[in-house]
Order: sequence, then C-alpha cells, then structure tokens
Amino acid sequence: MRPPVVVSDPAVLADRLHAWRSVGSSVGLVPTMGNLHEGHLGLVRSAAASVRHVIVSIFVNPTQFGPNEDFARYPRTLEHDLAQLTGSGCDLVWAPSVATMYPLGPGQGFGVSVPAELGNILCGDARPGHFDGVASVVLRLFNQVGPDMAFFGEKDFQQLRIIEHMVNDLSLSVRIKALPTVRETDGLAMSSRNGYLDSGQRRQAPLLHRVLSQCVARLDAGQDWTAVQTEGLAELATAGFDVDYLALCDAETLAGPDPRRPMRLLVAARLGSTRLIDNLAVQPRGTVGTS
Ligand code: PAF
Repeated sequence: MRPPVVVSDPAVLADRLHAWRSVGSSVGLVPTMGNLHEGHLGLVRSAAASVRHVIVSIFVNPTQFGPNEDFARYPRTLEHDLAQLTGSGCDLVWAPSVATMYPLGPGQGFGVSVPAELGNILCGDARPGHFDGVASVVLRLFNQVGPDMAFFGEKDFQQLRIIEHMVNDLSLSVRIKALPTVRETDGLAMSSRNGYLDSGQRRQAPLLHRVLSQCVARLDAGQDWTAVQTEGLAELATAGFDVDYLALCDAETLAGPDPRRPMRLLVAARLGSTRLIDNLAVQPRGTVGTS
C-alpha cells in the first residue's frame, strides 16, 4: 500500500480539492501536529467512515507554544507519520510551511482572539495566548481545506470546546466531530508528549487517570466537590505530580459546574518538565453512568 500524498503547496492543495469538489465528494480534516499515535489514527478512521476524502494536516504551530515551551524539541516525525497513515483511510497530508500559514510571520497579521472566559481559564491560565494560537491556526486550516467535517479528540477538551464555540460564533460551515480519548492499556491518555517521560515517570503517569476516575466515583457517590478536589490534589502530590489544576466545569461552557447539567473533570499536571492533561465526564447529579 502507498503512503498518502504529501502536499505543501497551497495551489496543489486547491487543485486537489477542486477536483474532489467538482464531482461532489465530501472532505474531512483531521488537524494534527504530527508524531501520530493511535488517538490520531482513530480520528482518521472515523473521518474515513464519514466522508469521501480525508486530509490530515501536519503542522507544528509556533503560535500555540509559549516562549519557554517545547516548540523547538516537539517531535517532527514525518516519515513515521506517513507510515502510520498508510492504509488508514487518509488520502492526503497537508504539510504547509510556516510562511504559508503565517505570511506576515507567526503571531503577526490577523488572528483569533478567544474570549477570556474560555481561553484564559484551565490550560489557558498557565499558557497565556495558547488558545489564540490554536484557534488562529485551526481557522486558517479550515479556510485552506474547507472541510465538511473536522475531527478532534476529547483529550484536549478545552481546545475542542473552544473550536466548537468558534465554529458557532463565526458561523463556519464545518461540522465538528469529537471522539473519546484513546488510552494506553494502563489508562494513560495517548499524547505525543508521553514520549518525553523517562521510565520512572512513565510508571507514575497512569495515576493521573486513576485519580480522575476515583474523583468521578466520589462525585457520583454524592461527595462534595471541595472534599473530592482536596483528596485528589493530595493523591497527585503524593505521587510526585506538580498540579496546575484539578477543576470541575460545565461540560458545555467550561464555566463553574451546575450539578444539574453534564460536567467535566479536567486535570493538568507536570511530571518533571512534562505537562500531562486528561479529563473525564461527570454526569449530572441524580443520573447514573459515566463515559
Ligand atoms: O491538537 C493539536 O494537535 C493542535 O492543537 C491542533 C488542533 C492541530 C492545532 O495546532
């Protein structure tokens, strides 16, 4: 089987899209920064089941990294990614240059300013400007590809909600499809950053998911959130995590939780210099079941 074709020239992308569109074919986009894992491949398979042609974008977006973050060392693994995508249902890899994405330079020119109540909380608190960078690059990708559907993982839950709100607020004609987090067998959410963990940290890392699951069970049993949060934070600290936040939010708005509505429990914590995030659904009080 042949790997998908890699396109970096916007004119070539436009030609390909025109050919597909002229025969009425639908197009799906899976935006990524590469270093693909099973989580990404699940998105690609879901896309292939929903649309005629699947484009995977691979672009390590400089504007979503802070000055002291891992932009320079973020894994760039195109050959490996192409091997992974072979036979996955991906037709084309869109791998634009920085100059294509940001003709005036990264952080220059037009961009999306995410409302503070969505973008400055949770991960946005520790990573100022991160979600402006994410939204700005995703909007550019949507404009370049014009997908009928775009596919995102729930692992980056705040990112997912911000993109959904952007699509709604700016009346973008793309349907966002969210897929559940894909986990290693020990529960660790798959992430390109897991590769930064040394073997000791890797053994500790699944505890993040375990503590989240325990917190959800306690909430389901009717325990008070403040008590659950205190216990969860203590357990994570004991296991060596440096916690940025352990927060319970409204699953739709990310605002403070209303126990009568679906909620989301989100965590971000560092093991050494590696920042891990995860989240789980919390059902409204008085209902049963988790996802
Ligand atoms: O989730 C990611 O990999 C990135 O944030 C995204 C959506 C591709 C934008 O750069």
